[in-house]
Amino acid sequence: MDLLELGLAGKVAIVTGASEGLGRACAERFARSGARVAICARRKEILERAAEEIRRATAAEVLAMPADVTRPQEVEAFVTATVRQFGGVDILVNNPGTSAAAAFGQVDDQTWEADIDLKLMAAVRFCRLVIPHMKRRGGGRIINVTTIGGKAPAARSLPTSVTRAAGINLTKSLAHEYAADGILVNTVCLGLVKSAQWERRAGGDREAYYREVARRVPLGRVAEAHEFADLVAFLASERAGYITGAAINFDGGMSATV
Ligand SMILES: NC(=O)c1ccc[n+]([C@@H]2O[C@H](COP(=O)([O-])OP(=O)(O)OC[C@H]3O[C@@H](n4cnc5c(N)ncnc54)[C@H](OP(=O)(O)O)[C@@H]3O)[C@@H](O)[C@H]2O)c1
Repeated sequence: MDLLELGLAGKVAIVTGASEGLGRACAERFARSGARVAICARRKEILERAAEEIRRATAAEVLAMPADVTRPQEVEAFVTATVRQFGGVDILVNNPGTSAAAAFGQVDDQTWEADIDLKLMAAVRFCRLVIPHMKRRGGGRIINVTTIGGKAPAARSLPTSVTRAAGINLTKSLAHEYAADGILVNTVCLGLVKSAQWERRAGGDREAYYREVARRVPLGRVAEAHEFADLVAFLASERAGYITGAAINFDGGMSATV
């Protein structure tokens, strides 16, 4: 197979929400390409297990620190620890989130605020802390995880379609503002990808669950987490040096919008 050289060896990548699911797949993908990886999540035991598995599989350096991305002090402590251990930051993947789709009348203030905190403010805070380090290194890459609902909201998709639209806008705003500093900012708008959140929801027969939801997908299947991680690794790589401010659908053709 022809190998696309990504130029990720020696880079420092922060992946948030990386003990399971898509974040974990990204962290492992970066580690396989020779990057040093800093990961966080709330549940310490699962996080440490993920870090150990990635170290064993790739021999990469992995810093794992429990942190809730909705708590500014924990976010700051995690970024500080990453810079102390690895000397800077080249790549940031803002990943944590959860499905929060309901009818407008059912969403109270607390639910709105929690979703904005988790999906928007966490990314804002990480970007604020990490961008000065990227500037110091002459550039960097930020990849924000959002959803296709942020471009084309369905009925009963609140608050998530609004917070994801804000994430897409944040991506474009930062891309314009920091292009001159060599910091490239993109977002991946997700459809359906296999991950821990769906497996919790599916209960026993996860493959039957995936087959059922895949009916909504033109390509007829739910994506694998490693396929998503390949896209993120590409966006973070030297091969993607002319891509910034893009909102890329990763949805098997599901979205009505380009
Ligand atoms: N998979 C899909 O089909 C799909 C579709 C649309 C959008 N997305 C988005 O893609 C992202 C990843 O989803 P996923 O499917 O991989 O989810 P997942 O399987 O539930 O994994 C989520 C990861 O984030 C961590 N996390 C959650 N809340 C956190 C917090 N407050 N602070 C720090 N870490 C936190 C979790 O660990 P702890 O619980 O231990 O903190 C876990 O490691 C999310 O933003 C999600 O909304 C996914």
